[in-house]
Amino acid sequence: MNSDTASISTYYGDGYDDAMSLVESDCGYHSASTDDAPSTSAATTTIASEVTNYKWEHGRRYHSYSENLYFAPNDDTQNQQLEILHHIYTIMLGRLFVSPIDCPDRVLDLGTGTGIWAIDMADAYPSSRILGNDLSPVQPTWIPANCAFEVDDITRPWVHPPRSFDFIFARDLYGGVADWPKLLSEVHTALVPGGYFESIELAIQCKSALFPENNDDIPDEWPLKKWYVMGHEAARRAGRPIDFHGSMKNWMRRAGFEAVEERILKIPLGGWDENRRRVGKLAMKSMLDGAEGFCLALFTRWLGLSAEETRRICTEAMKQLGDEKLKLYVEAYVLTPLMNEVGG
Ligand SMILES: C[S@@+](CC[C@H](N)C(=O)[O-])C[C@H]1O[C@@H](n2cnc3c(N)ncnc32)[C@H](O)[C@@H]1O
Repeated sequence: MNSDTASISTYYGDGYDDAMSLVESDCGYHSASTDDAPSTSAATTTIASEVTNYKWEHGRRYHSYSENLYFAPNDDTQNQQLEILHHIYTIMLGRLFVSPIDCPDRVLDLGTGTGIWAIDMADAYPSSRILGNDLSPVQPTWIPANCAFEVDDITRPWVHPPRSFDFIFARDLYGGVADWPKLLSEVHTALVPGGYFESIELAIQCKSALFPENNDDIPDEWPLKKWYVMGHEAARRAGRPIDFHGSMKNWMRRAGFEAVEERILKIPLGGWDENRRRVGKLAMKSMLDGAEGFCLALFTRWLGLSAEETRRICTEAMKQLGDEKLKLYVEAYVLTPLMNEVGG
């Protein structure tokens, strides 16, 4: 997406498996061609060492492109956690996105991670062209023909021409973006008039249904609270605060979006509620898998703690997470601002 992206790091899946023929959609099929890739021309598989020369720290693997920009690892443990989270969102929303858009033509997935959303979108909307980008090329290469991935840092100036996409999706970029208003301005410019942006961001804050009188906030002395408060402080010191949720609506309006709609998903942690047992168990697994990856770089790089001390704090917090009587949950903010009709 930025100027050096196209030359060094775009790669395409060249396969299109039988699963595609099973997908039912009212949108029809897009015939596969090199035009399917929205940003560059050649369907090649070129990955420069700059993006795959991953950095290892305290036994975990991190991205190398725009080194140290994002704090979570890109290894299998972390990626498994992302895939579980994807299933949780899909179950809770009942679909892949909530924006009222039928058959988007060109779709961009910012910070695609394992690419699971982009791939599911490509399967579900065979007439759409889906491009996912990320700092790490950890996405599979065997992907639908109408799907493409590229390595990119979305915080650098974009080179996509204005009005390149009908739908831009961004989920859980927390910690990867220092200047949200700047990113939102790029998103706004890259959308066609009437296009949609959808942002889903998990609030890094555990709440408990045991404390309704306190807005479900958990006590300060709980290890779980201390853990995520330290995470917020480290992210602030890193220059990429993770407590931006209250500002997003205003930033979106200032970027030129209109009719910003916000809904908050309450994701239960653990099987504390019979109705939400399945999601709760998945969410617990996702949180346990992702907890160390969330704090290891943050605490060691920006709070000056050792890896051992960080792991001890994390383990204490996770012990508490396992107590289903605490009725814990996390919130995800789902924002769907409509692109101004006359904008672009
Ligand atoms: C928590 S993961 C979410 C992945 C995916 N959106 C999902 O919902 O499954 C955050 C992803 O954003 C990527 N990311 C963070 N900052 C980024 C940036 N500045 N440019 C591109 N990708 C970024 C990370 O590499 C990581 O894969």
